[in-house]
This record gives sequence, C-alpha cells and structure tokens, in this order.
Amino acid sequence: MTVARISELGSLTGQSVTVRGWVVTTRSSGKIAFVVIRDGSGVVQGIVSRQDVAEDIWARFADLTHETAVALTGEVRPDPRSPGGVELGVRDIAILGASPDFPITPKEHGTTFLFEHRHLWLRSPRQAAIAKIRHELVQGIRDFFHQRDFTLVDTPILTGAIGEEAGNLFATEYFDLGTAYLAQTGQLYLEAAAAALGRVYCFGPTFRAEKSKTRRHLTEFWMVEPEVAFNDSDDNMRLQEEFVSNLVGRVLDTRSAELAVLERDTSALERVKAPFHRISYTDAVARLNELGSDIAWGRDLGGDDETLLAKDYDRPVFVFNYPREVKAFYMKQNPDDPRTVLNNDCLAPEGYGEIIGGSQREDDHDTLLARIEAQGLNPDAYGWYLDLRKYGTFVHSGFGLGIERTLAWLCGLPHIREAIAFPRQIHRLYP
Ligand code: 4AD
Ligand code: MG
Repeated sequence: MTVARISELGSLTGQSVTVRGWVVTTRSSGKIAFVVIRDGSGVVQGIVSRQDVAEDIWARFADLTHETAVALTGEVRPDPRSPGGVELGVRDIAILGASPDFPITPKEHGTTFLFEHRHLWLRSPRQAAIAKIRHELVQGIRDFFHQRDFTLVDTPILTGAIGEEAGNLFATEYFDLGTAYLAQTGQLYLEAAAAALGRVYCFGPTFRAEKSKTRRHLTEFWMVEPEVAFNDSDDNMRLQEEFVSNLVGRVLDTRSAELAVLERDTSALERVKAPFHRISYTDAVARLNELGSDIAWGRDLGGDDETLLAKDYDRPVFVFNYPREVKAFYMKQNPDDPRTVLNNDCLAPEGYGEIIGGSQREDDHDTLLARIEAQGLNPDAYGWYLDLRKYGTFVHSGFGLGIERTLAWLCGLPHIREAIAFPRQIHRLYP
C-alpha cells in the first residue's frame, strides 16, 4: 500500500493509496458522503459510496468531525473540477485522532479569541498561506546572500553591550558577570566579522521590550542584517533596493496561490523595482509639514509620518541622513553636516512604514568613543568594538530588515502579529 502526500496524488491516478491528514469538511446525502482533508501539502476530497464499503466504515464517517486526524485509503481518480485535479474513492477510513468540538468554527471569531487559540488557528488556510510566504521570504533572503558570496555569521543572543537603545532592553542575571541583555541586533558583532570576511550577514531573533502597542511592533522579531566592508551609505542603499526588489519578485513568482488565498492585490508589489525613491530627512520634514504633519526638524519620524510620506511614492522610499541625536551611537557622522548621520530607513508603500534601518558605521575611534560616552553607555563594554577602529579601521555599512514587517507588507496584513507563528507582544506570552 502506497502512503502519499496529497500533493503527490496527481501522479498516482488509478492507484490505491493511503492519505493521512485532518478533516476540513464533510457532507453526506445518505448514499454518498464527501470528506475534504488537508495534510499541509494540499487538500483532497474523499468520496465514500455506501454500496461500496462495509457497514462499519460507512458508520465511521459520522465521527469525522472538524480536525479529526484520519487515514483514508482508496483509489486516486481524475477529477478536473477539484484543485489538485484528483479525488479519492474511499474504501477504508481509519480515525487516528478524534477532534470533538474544535474551538474554531466557521463563524466569525474575535481577534483576541483567535490569538488565544493561535496553536489551532495556524491550521486555517489563511495562516498556512502566510507561513508559506514567510518560508519563501526567508529562503529568498538566504539564497540572495549566498549567491553574492556573503558568509553567514551567527551572532550571540546573550550580550554584554547594548546594541540600540537602552530603553527597550530585556535584561537577565548572568552568573557572576552582572547583567546580560537579549540581543537587539547582531550588528556590532557582525562588524567584527566583516573585517574578517568582507561580506557577512546574520539572521536571527532579536528582542526589544517595546512598550508600544502598535501594529508594527513585536517584542521578539526576526531580523536579517548584512554588513559589507568598504560599502559607503550610497552603496548600502543600492544593496537594499536590489535585495528588496529581488525578494518581492521571488514571492510574486512562486507564491501567487498563497497571495490569492490572502486576497492580496499584487499590483502595488509588481511596481517594486530598483531604483527606489530617495529623499533626505530634511526634505522629508519639509514635505511632511506641507502635508499637514507638525513634525519639527530633529524629531524621529513617527509611524503616521512614515505612512503619510510614503503616500507620495509608487514604490519604497529611502529617507536618508537623519539627525544624529535620534539615531544610534554607531552611525557615521555626516562630514557635510555634522548634525546628521549617514544612514537611511527604507519605508514600504501602502502604509507599512519602516522595513529597513541601515547606516554607514562610525569608523573613527575618537568620534565613536565620544558618541558612546555622550549616550551614557559604558565604554568598558565596548572595548572590543572600539578595537575595530584601532586595527585596520575601514569604511563599512549594513542594514537590518525586519522579517515580520516585510511579511506583513507582502501579505497585506493589517497587523504584524499575524506574520509570526507565535507572536510575542507586551500583553502576549501565551500560547
Ligand atoms: O532600525 P533598527 O532598529 O536597526 C537595527 O537594529 C540596526 N542594528 C540594523 C543594522 O544596521 N544592522 O531595526 C531594523 C528593522 C526595522 O526597520 C524593522 O523592520 C525591524 O527591524 N524592527 C522591528 N520589527 C518588529 N518589531 C519591532 N519592535 C521592531 N523593531 C525593529
Ligand atoms: Mg529603525
């Protein structure tokens, strides 16, 4: 007896196979009964004809409630009307795991209920489509860097040096060594690796104790961060636009079925091609003021400002050279305007806001030390980082792309929390 996944059935017509999966729906006319099952690779309809099966098997059909785990055995028959092109003429039914009263029913459920049942909700077609697109995005990221001769370097999650802002750290006691922080970024370590390997990237979970309850913030999210020796800030933006347009193109090419499940209008995604638009922070503030925002020069752009500004553009936009006071200590001071740094954010269209933060790094030892001190950070924790500026300092740049923000945009999700299997937010640690 052949055991097959549903996706393989198309090439097995005429054969008798066993398929294992979970019950999606059933209906019965009294003489003939239908059961749709899914196994993660696809869905197939099984047809049970009362006259063709033993009485006990016919009776078992009644136990096939929603999400029952089941093995169906029967002949694969062509059926041009069904999604996979085949159906299963069921001869035997084995119940592997009963499912009485599955909590998620076809009726509408509130968001709170669904997130409390996230472990079960993941089985829905919509959540499965998001998971498949996330997988494609992650694979696309790995392929992109692999093809361009980047070396993956895994950076630590327990760290002794604050990477971004002191305000949103998760801290934990670390033996006799005091406080360790969960990594907000792998970047500082990656800079060390860039001097060893030239082109590197890290890709892992990052942690920020974000008190904000916005649709763009998680406390645990995944970030991919490349770092490139001898790239300046302009090279960095060119790499970003090549990267993002490559990823969007790959998802459009390979995941149209999943995008259709999500009812994603892909016309805006199809416009995502390099070059992206570029506007300086100073010009962006002026434009935002014209558009009605009260943002003043010197303040970071808020989520609403990002949405407003991005409406001007038909594809992602880079906002570059922010005031140094609102940005991290490691960013390279702009030689032409020392009030600003050589950095950029990349804003996605359609109101999704910042998906990338990137910058050229401060490569001058004394300027960097002064920034560390000015921001109230402990220079002792950064001795190793400052060493990089003592031994063969070099122009270098990199960026971080947030997976969930990018996925929320690609999938057209109203909130970032659906973009990860088990979201972590200020009020969510279950399931
Ligand atoms: O702009 P950020 O803070 O940049 C860094 O961490 C740099 N060290 C990156 C680098 O240059 N190597 O974060 C980068 C991206 C953001 O653009 C956003 O997509 C995502 O990480 N991100 C978050 N995603 C979800 N929830 C949060 N709380 C996030 N904070 C940042
Ligand atoms: Mg940022």
